[in-house]
Amino acid sequence: MAAFIGEPVQGAGGVIVPQDDYWPRIRQICDRHNVLLIADEVITGFGRTGDWFALSRYGIKPDIVSFAKAITSGYFPLGGIGVSDQIAEAIDAATDQRTWMHAYTYSAHPTGCAVALANLDIIKREGLVQRAAELGQLLLSRLKTLAAHPNVGDVRGLGLMAAVELVADQKTKAEFPPESKIGPRIHAATQERGMFTRLRGDVYNLAPPFITTPAQIERMVQILGDSTDAVLPAMRGAP
Ligand SMILES: Cc1ncc(COP(=O)(O)O)c(C=O)c1O
Repeated sequence: MAAFIGEPVQGAGGVIVPQDDYWPRIRQICDRHNVLLIADEVITGFGRTGDWFALSRYGIKPDIVSFAKAITSGYFPLGGIGVSDQIAEAIDAATDQRTWMHAYTYSAHPTGCAVALANLDIIKREGLVQRAAELGQLLLSRLKTLAAHPNVGDVRGLGLMAAVELVADQKTKAEFPPESKIGPRIHAATQERGMFTRLRGDVYNLAPPFITTPAQIERMVQILGDSTDAVLPAMRGAP
């Protein structure tokens, strides 16, 4: 049996948001060829994109979903997978000879599970998934103001994950040569101004906590704009 695995929105790869029909079509193709669909929701799961799970926004279900990070909001390490009834039944029905034996030392760690339950209660009680959706819209719309800078090639995001891509040429999207280290220099400039995040090359990624305030989002966008101007000064508003 074959399987297709992917992140609903690529995270560390530079926040690549697929077009709306991508995942429904992948689901159709997998069904047509009897291929399992595995969603890696380690980053996107439990609210990050403004839905509990990113694939649910596209109206489809994976056969297997992997998750970690936000199930405990990172306060305790816990990861896991969810499987469809069909897969669970196949596992349950396996005879001794066909059972796939595997284990991790800390599987089903009770402290991790208790932290997850408490954390999920807080996410529900405080409406943090909805908050991530609303703040995400604010973040994206404010980041889009940075697109006026001629070296901003793309601004993209879904929920509280977003990215600003810096390019040498806005029209052709030609990248800066790696040795110019534009991304790392902008990262250093944002750090000097009090913001730390993660880069992928010249793509500046943002994934703030669900409890971020609108004022902090404004500040983040301000810092990134100021840092871009500091590293690429001749560009903004240049004749
Ligand atoms: C989307 C995604 N999947 C999987 C992993 C790896 O997870 P783990 O460290 O739990 O193996 C990561 C780690 O950052 C990730 O971002």
